[in-house]
Amino acid sequence: MKFSLYQRLSLSLLLVFIIIISVFYLWSVQLEKQARYESEQSLHLSLAANLARDNPLLQQGVYDHKALKNLFHTLMVLGPAFEFYFLDPTGNILTHSLPTSLIKRNKVNVSPLIRLTQNQADLPVYGDDPQHQTRQKIFSAAPVFNGATLQGYLYVIVAGERYETAFEKQNTNRQVKLSMVIFIGAMLFLFIVMLGLFAYFTRPLRLLNREITALKSAGFDTSKVKLTHWKPQSHNEVHMLGEVFEAMAKQIHEQLLQLKQNDSQRRELLADISHDLRTPLASLQGYIETISLNANSITAEQQQKYIDVTLKNARQLKQLIDQIFELAHIEGGQVTLNLESFNLAELLYDVVAKFTLKAQEKNISIIITPQCSTLLIHSDIAKLERVVSNLIENAIRHTSNAGQIAINIEEQEKHCFVKVRDNGTGIKTEELSYIFDTRYRASNAIQSDEKHTGLGLAITKKILELLKSEIHVTSELGKGTEFSFDVKVAS
Ligand SMILES: Nc1ncnc2c1ncn2[C@@H]1O[C@H](COP(=O)(O)OP(=O)(O)OP(=O)(O)O)[C@@H](O)[C@H]1O
Ligand SMILES: [Mg+2]
Repeated sequence: MKFSLYQRLSLSLLLVFIIIISVFYLWSVQLEKQARYESEQSLHLSLAANLARDNPLLQQGVYDHKALKNLFHTLMVLGPAFEFYFLDPTGNILTHSLPTSLIKRNKVNVSPLIRLTQNQADLPVYGDDPQHQTRQKIFSAAPVFNGATLQGYLYVIVAGERYETAFEKQNTNRQVKLSMVIFIGAMLFLFIVMLGLFAYFTRPLRLLNREITALKSAGFDTSKVKLTHWKPQSHNEVHMLGEVFEAMAKQIHEQLLQLKQNDSQRRELLADISHDLRTPLASLQGYIETISLNANSITAEQQQKYIDVTLKNARQLKQLIDQIFELAHIEGGQVTLNLESFNLAELLYDVVAKFTLKAQEKNISIIITPQCSTLLIHSDIAKLERVVSNLIENAIRHTSNAGQIAINIEEQEKHCFVKVRDNGTGIKTEELSYIFDTRYRASNAIQSDEKHTGLGLAITKKILELLKSEIHVTSELGKGTEFSFDVKVAS
């Protein structure tokens, strides 16, 4: 059988409650009995002594079996609750008031009798009950002397068998009934109160359990399940648990969404890239086929022209594939950084030198300020070169003839800002936030005969993220664009 936490708590409480009440009931019965015996014994403490003193037979210490038997019989008629015994000094029963068949032992231990007669013990004192092998009862006792010699003891069981039977008959029903009513009533009351309390305290736990189950069956989609807002910074453990669960559910949902988004982006990228690859590849194939089919009919000049076009297409293909690999490599997290200290200005001059020819073709001047700098930075030289190359390449492409590109180094404590500014076409403000997206090309993208796919800035941004830096852009349409990022100065 499977019980919920609430049911288990209730059942355990019920069990504890039954045990407590039972122990309490038994204890109170025992206490009541002891108090009753104590008062009975103290009331009849001098009973035996009075009998011994008032009875001429016992007063003289003469032991007459028949006369005593008669006396006991008379006394028992007067006080049916008492049982009378006459014992010898060692405790052997000589005469008693009962039918012989009821007597189960011949001897009674006299030490409790001595203790009681000498007032050495606290009441109640129990003595052996001759009607039972092991049972003990309260009694009254008095020594009987013949002159100076101890003749024996008058031993009176105060709460005898008849007393107990009569008492139990009277009391049992009333008391037991009363206790049972109180017991059941109290138990029922407490049980109902406890059920209410448990239901109240376990309510958040049940709610949490319901939510977890619902969320699981909804495939962890938080939009399909209405989640409770748990009390923040509560000291209640269930609320703390609920809060963590809420955050966890949110995170799982966001990650699922992110995964789906990444997946669709990847598919899109793959489709776009295969299209981009197909175009130069088809052109390449077309020209090679032309050369191959018309090898004899075309002139050497035409042949050279076709080969140039094929070469251009092949270069484009290589560049595109390189970029795709680079991006995949960075995104896959397989890049290791080679951090070292080097002169930033030297690196910038090296990159600019690569683009001198292209810049001269468009009569664009590239200036680095300050012209001389000994500033050492701590970074990955190859990665930083890729970043600066991408920015300068874009700047040259989007700057018209006779334009200007300024590269600026700005040192600030532990960091240094590199700014690449051109006075070219500029980018529309609404397009600025998209230019770092993979394959995004703004409306200004100059459709030159060279194919560009919009991967450059995406790669640049990712490389800078690896170097724990951020790229920023400001631009004004028709006036120019400025890209800036920071690098760590070598300590
Ligand atoms: N300096 C700039 N001035 C004006 N527009 C720019 C500049 N740099 C980038 N852009 C715009 O941002 C877009 C994205 O740039 P990105 O470098 O990612 O792609 P791309 O240069 O078109 O292609 P690729 O870098 O893959 O060859 C460009 O298409 C262009 O529209
Ligand atoms: Mg580019």
